[in-house]
Amino acid sequence: MVRRELPDYPSETSSASFTGANPVSHPSRGASMNSAAEPAPTYRTGFHIGGRWVSPLGTDEISVENPATEQVIGRVPAGTAADVDRAVAAARAAFPGWAALAPTERAAHLERLHRRLTARAGEIAHTVACELGTPLKIAARVQAGLPLTVLDSYVTLAASPPEEETVGNSLVVREPVGVVGAITPWNYPLHQVVAKVAPALAAGCTVVLKPAELTPLVAYLLFDAVDEAGLPPGVVNLVTGTGPVAGAALAAHPGVDMVSFTGSTATGTQISRLAADRIARVSLELGGKSANIIFEDADLAGAVKVGVGNAFLNSGQTCTAWTRMLVHRSRYDEAVDLAGKAAGGYRLGDPFDPATRLGPLVSAGQRERVRGYVERGLAEGARLVTGGLDAPVPDTGYFVAPTVLADVDPDSTVAQEEIFGPVLAVIPFDDDDHAVAIANNSKYGLAGAVWSGDQDRAVAVARRLRTGAVDVNGGAFNPLAPFGGYKQSGVGRELGAHGLAEFLEVKSIQR
Ligand code: NAI
Ligand code: MG
Repeated sequence: MVRRELPDYPSETSSASFTGANPVSHPSRGASMNSAAEPAPTYRTGFHIGGRWVSPLGTDEISVENPATEQVIGRVPAGTAADVDRAVAAARAAFPGWAALAPTERAAHLERLHRRLTARAGEIAHTVACELGTPLKIAARVQAGLPLTVLDSYVTLAASPPEEETVGNSLVVREPVGVVGAITPWNYPLHQVVAKVAPALAAGCTVVLKPAELTPLVAYLLFDAVDEAGLPPGVVNLVTGTGPVAGAALAAHPGVDMVSFTGSTATGTQISRLAADRIARVSLELGGKSANIIFEDADLAGAVKVGVGNAFLNSGQTCTAWTRMLVHRSRYDEAVDLAGKAAGGYRLGDPFDPATRLGPLVSAGQRERVRGYVERGLAEGARLVTGGLDAPVPDTGYFVAPTVLADVDPDSTVAQEEIFGPVLAVIPFDDDDHAVAIANNSKYGLAGAVWSGDQDRAVAVARRLRTGAVDVNGGAFNPLAPFGGYKQSGVGRELGAHGLAEFLEVKSIQR
C-alpha cells in the first residue's frame, strides 16, 4: 500500500541508488530524490532557523552512511555552539506569539503539518530504510506510519488542552514551559522527533531540534513539510550536529527552558548535569532491558513468537525491546526450542528486498558493540541456541545474525545491560514471585510483557513490575497511552495527554 506511494527508483530497487546524491540535505530539491538517473543535486546544505534554510556558520560536516551498503549517502553540516545560539534566539523570538495563539489555531497548524508530512510517507520510509537500514516494509509501517499517527493525535490534543481548575480561592492555569531543546536518537529517527515536537508545539512551546548524527536525513523531510505547512517562523528550528558539540550546546543553553532527550542513559546523565546548572526542566527517555514473562498456562507458541518479534524489531534497536524472555521452568525447554526456531527463520539482508525481516545495525560501531555482548554472554556461561558470531551474514553491511542465548544468568552482563541488537536472553523461573524478582532485577524500568491463560493473574503480575509499561497477553500498542520509564529508563512521559502535560507549567492565581 505504502509502496505505491514511493517515488520511482531504478529497477534494482536498491538503496545504492542513493549513493553519491545528497537528496535530503538539499533544501530546495525536487521530488526526484530517488532517481539515480537524475544528477546529484547541487550540493547545498543548511539548517532551518527562523523559518528559512540558512547556511551553517562553520564548515564541518557529518557523512551519513547507509549501513546495508556501507556507502556514504549524504552529508549534513555539523552545527556549532554559534549555530545553536542563532536557533535558540529564533525560538525565543517566536515563543510569545506562538504561546498566545488559541489552542484551536495551533491545532490547525499541526493539522496542516500532518497533511504535508502524510504526503511524504513513502519518502520517509525510503529515507529511513537508507540511513538506518530498517526493512522498507517495516519502515513504512513503523518509521513513517507511527510518527504520522502520533502527530495526528496531537492535532486533536492541541485543540483541547487540560482544563483550568478551581481549588478553593485559587484558579489553577497551565502555560507553556518556553523554549524546548529536543535531542533525539537514531533508532526511530522521525518518531522520536515527532514525539517531542508535536506535543511541545501543541502546548505552545517553541523548539530547537538536534537530531541524531547517524540518521539526520529524515528530519529534512519534516522541515520541508514545516515550510509547506506555513508554520510561523522560528516556532520549530533544525540544527544538525554531533552530540558533544551541538547537542551539549543546546542542553547547556541559558535560552532553553526545557531539554527533552531520548537516547542512552549515559548521555541522559550528561544532559541532566548540563541542565542542572540553570535548573532547566529535563525529560528523559532512556534505555531498557525489558522482561517478557511467560507463565506455564500461556499460549506458549503465540507468546514466544510475539516475544521474539518484539525483541528483534528494528534489528533489536528498540528501547522497549523485550530482551529478556522469562519462562516458567515447566515449559522452558519447549520455549527455548520455539525461540531458536523463530529466530533462525528471520531473513537477514537488503532492506529493499520485500522478503527481508532483519536489516543491519545502524553503524560499524554498533555492530562491534553487539558482537562484544554476544561474546561476553557466552564467556559468562550462556548457551548459544541460534545465531552467534559465526552464523552467516551478508558480506557487506553491519549485520549480526539473530541470536538466542539460553540459560542466561539473570545477573550476567547480557541480562543487565542494554545490547541494542538482535540478541535475546532466555531465563527460567520457578513461580510468580521468582518471575517478578528476576524482571525487577534491573537498573532499567521501561517496558515488559506478561502472558498467562489467567488474565487476572497476568494483570496482577503486571502491577508488580517496576516499569512504565506492560503489555498483557499481546495487548496492542496504544499511541495515546503515556510512554516512559521508571528507574534509569528515564524521567517524564511522552505521547498522549501526559506527553503534552510535560511541556506545561502550572500557575495558581489566588482571588
Ligand atoms: P546517544 O545517547 O549518545 O545519542 C542520542 C542523541 O544524543 C544523539 O542525538 C546524540 O547526538 C546526542 N548526544 C550524544 N552525546 C551528547 C552530549 N554529550 N550532549 C548532548 N547530546 C548528546 O546514543 P548512541 O551513542 O548513539 O548509542 C549508544 C547506545 O545508547 C545504544 O547502543 C543503546 O544502548 C542506547 N540508545 C538508546 C536509545 C533509546 O531509544 N532509549 C536510542 C539510541 C541509543
Ligand atoms: Mg554516543
